[in-house]
Amino acid sequence: MNCNIGVIRGDGIGPEVVSEAIKVLDAVAKKYNHTFNYDEILMGGCSIDATGEPLTKEAIEQAKAADAVLLGSIGGDAKTSPWYKLPADKRPEAGLLGIRKALNLFANLRPAYLYPQLKEACPLRDDIIGDGFDMMIMRELTGGLYFGKRETREVNGKTEAYDTLTYNEDEIRRIAIRGFDIAMKRKKKVTSVDKANVLDSSRLWRKVVEEVAADYPEVTLEHMLVDNAAMQLVKDPKQFDVILTENMFGDILSDEASMVTGSIGMLSSASLNDTKFGLYEPSGGSAPDIAGKGIANPIATILSAAMMLRFTFDMDKEADAIENAINKVLDEGYRTIDIMPAPGKELTGITQVGTEKMGDLIVEHL
Ligand code: IPM
Ligand code: MG
Repeated sequence: MNCNIGVIRGDGIGPEVVSEAIKVLDAVAKKYNHTFNYDEILMGGCSIDATGEPLTKEAIEQAKAADAVLLGSIGGDAKTSPWYKLPADKRPEAGLLGIRKALNLFANLRPAYLYPQLKEACPLRDDIIGDGFDMMIMRELTGGLYFGKRETREVNGKTEAYDTLTYNEDEIRRIAIRGFDIAMKRKKKVTSVDKANVLDSSRLWRKVVEEVAADYPEVTLEHMLVDNAAMQLVKDPKQFDVILTENMFGDILSDEASMVTGSIGMLSSASLNDTKFGLYEPSGGSAPDIAGKGIANPIATILSAAMMLRFTFDMDKEADAIENAINKVLDEGYRTIDIMPAPGKELTGITQVGTEKMGDLIVEHL
């Protein structure tokens, strides 16, 4: 198969981890007889430096022309980077929000899975970890507070600011359908997270999710208030299968879910629209503090590339091969610094490696 992949290396550790993912993709191409063509796209801080804009029209056109886009990470240190002296709509993050909107990437899938090999890195108690956990956060990505009307203004001599959280029923329905479809391929449970005891948008969310649920009699639907969900994620993460939620709640809960798995450096994500196109990126950020040191964990980006093969290109066996290779490398005890056992835990059989070495090992095990 001949595939056109847009590549946004981005900022911070982005370029380093994307290089490793491309190394793995190239090895897959060779082994399974595919051709992957890469088109480099500028976005985020590096685009600001080159063009003055975090996301140019040209970049959007390049992304639209690709079959899928692989993204590293964007953004820098908000305290020290000159990018954060710019108005909000010219900063790196505006590029990310812009591409999500421009490509209508309304469905954000963030799997949070505890690798049995990495139990030692999980911050939860052993009795809570049990046999591990495996959940999929389905976050709505193009609506809600992120894209609602907002303003900072002067009222009676005082500065005030507001943001608005709006959803219409179609926006809720399409993400709910995605959530239920995915639940059907998993453990058939959807936990829809909202704040229906306070917010109108959440009451509509709940109503529409219930309508969608009627078409999926095999799936168990449960509603959970977001504050409780935040607590349940650390109290009993095993109870979750698919977590379906709006943009802002999903942003917060997905960071929490990633941390209970032990490392954000292991978590992939996919942002999808209603075609086969997808934007695939690690869940973690640009980590400017470790950029360029060669220690970042490339696994989340490599797993994101595997997700791309699975969802956009229907290459299940190739995606399985990447996931199996990662499992073997972990079985053999190789770890980047972020997934080393917690202080005081057993280190026998564990070898710490850097970004490039981790990429090489995964290629060797393909
Ligand atoms: C994420 C990030 C972004 C978001 C930021 C960088 C705008 O936190 O993808 O979760 O809030 O969506
Ligand atoms: Mg976030």
